[in-house]
Amino acid sequence: MTTNGQPKGRTLVFNILRFNPQEKGDKPRMVRYEVEEAPGMTIFIALNHIREQMEPSLQFDFVCRAGICGSCGMVINGRPDLACRTLTTKFPEGEITLMPLPAFELIGDLSVNTGEFMRSVAERVESWIHSEEAKAPDLDVLEERMDPDTADAIYELDRCIECGCCISACGTLRMREKFLGARGFMSVARFMADPRDDRTDADWYEVIGDDDGVFGCMTLLGCEDTCPKDLPHQAKIAYLRRRMVKA
Ligand code: FES
Repeated sequence: MTTNGQPKGRTLVFNILRFNPQEKGDKPRMVRYEVEEAPGMTIFIALNHIREQMEPSLQFDFVCRAGICGSCGMVINGRPDLACRTLTTKFPEGEITLMPLPAFELIGDLSVNTGEFMRSVAERVESWIHSEEAKAPDLDVLEERMDPDTADAIYELDRCIECGCCISACGTLRMREKFLGARGFMSVARFMADPRDDRTDADWYEVIGDDDGVFGCMTLLGCEDTCPKDLPHQAKIAYLRRRMVKA
């Protein structure tokens, strides 16, 4: 029992990959930390505790702590997920291994550079509205209204928080370095659904009509299984593939 009469929580064991590539001679190693579990504890809260109480040099990323910014993606017991949305109670054995997301440049410990990859995807997909009006917008003219169903469909595809979990879980990307990945396909589907965008299927074929695009996906379902936002990756990839076959 604790001093306030509450039953004593578990002692969690965290095995965390520590490595600072910026530090000359540093070598990757697993380091063990013990943390008393608290009610409602997330991996993020535990990491903060470790950094504040034991290891000030521990690197990991977060901004929102609410599953919105996508900064805290990491591999938690072998599975890419968000540290701020993962409760420690999910692991009854009480032992938790944390690794940085693969497929991205390592900044240090659990912190990776997802920005460079996400930017390259945005540039490749040209993820902005392509139309004559968009090239020379008249700011005095009201934007044309969109019907609610279309707006909902776009919103659904725009919920990606670019956490990198789908990319880290993608087996195809391990084999094809230039594979666009689920993040890119969702972006393509989003702009295809937008009536303000003038790009045709023939234009999209130039972007995703090969093995680095939608025909390269081996349907291993890693993106579908790990997306913290439950985005319909595989359904959309199948849809894009059908459109590209006809393009
Ligand atoms: S800290 Fe923003 S998604 Fe986890």
